Amino acid sequence: MICCIACTIFNLVYIMEVTVPSKEVKIASTQYPVLDIIKKRWSARAFTAQNISKQDLHTLFEAASWSPSSMNEQPWVYVYAHHGSELFEQMWSCLAGGNQPWAKNAAVLVLSLCRNQFAANQQANFHALYDVGAANTVLLLQAITMGIYGHIMGGFDREKTKSTFAISDNYTIATFIALGYLDEPSILEEPFRTRETTPRTRKPTADFAFDTVEKLQ
Ligand SMILES: Cc1cc2nc3c(=O)[nH]c(=O)nc-3n(C[C@H](O)[C@H](O)[C@H](O)COP(=O)(O)O)c2cc1C
Repeated sequence: MICCIACTIFNLVYIMEVTVPSKEVKIASTQYPVLDIIKKRWSARAFTAQNISKQDLHTLFEAASWSPSSMNEQPWVYVYAHHGSELFEQMWSCLAGGNQPWAKNAAVLVLSLCRNQFAANQQANFHALYDVGAANTVLLLQAITMGIYGHIMGGFDREKTKSTFAISDNYTIATFIALGYLDEPSILEEPFRTRETTPRTRKPTADFAFDTVEKLQ
């Protein structure tokens, strides 16, 4: 009897895990009426084998380029590699152990960097890293309108990345980004499968948006 109940529970959990459409679960439940693309963007890990066309990839990069930047410097630089290429393997090998198991399925891996100096006068651009981060977010929002999911990764071996690609001190590495079309959570191993079907959460705005500086104490 106990065995029977346990079996039923196991089957139910299994059925839920493989059938829950992750993109439904991941849609943000918001307190205020934010844009649909903001609700729908999330950091997916299950990617299909479908490639991203050159046209679509450059649409994403152009979207990123329309992000605001300090002095319109546009300090971002992207290096991208399609699944199956040698460059993809090199990029993948720089990722942290917690990212490699799922990022190996990405259609494209992107390395995002910024130039550290203003082109016009070689002065330090203290906003460059901020700007590439903002551009990455615009890229991800554009992607979601095209059915492409992106996952930013700060988990990588920075020294290995610098040496593998001979990146000079003129650049700061921001993040890697995995891009691809969404597959079922069932293609993932744990703990990634569970993460793929866990609803997203955010702090309420009252926790971080204040009408007084006293909250900063
Ligand atoms: C700078 C940065 C670094 C991140 N690094 C990783 C990472 O190494 N591995 C990972 O799985 N997710 C990483 N993420 C994704 C976050 O975990 C994710 O954005 C956050 O949990 C919120 O989930 P959501 O994007 O699905 O809303 C990173 C995100 C950012 C912006």
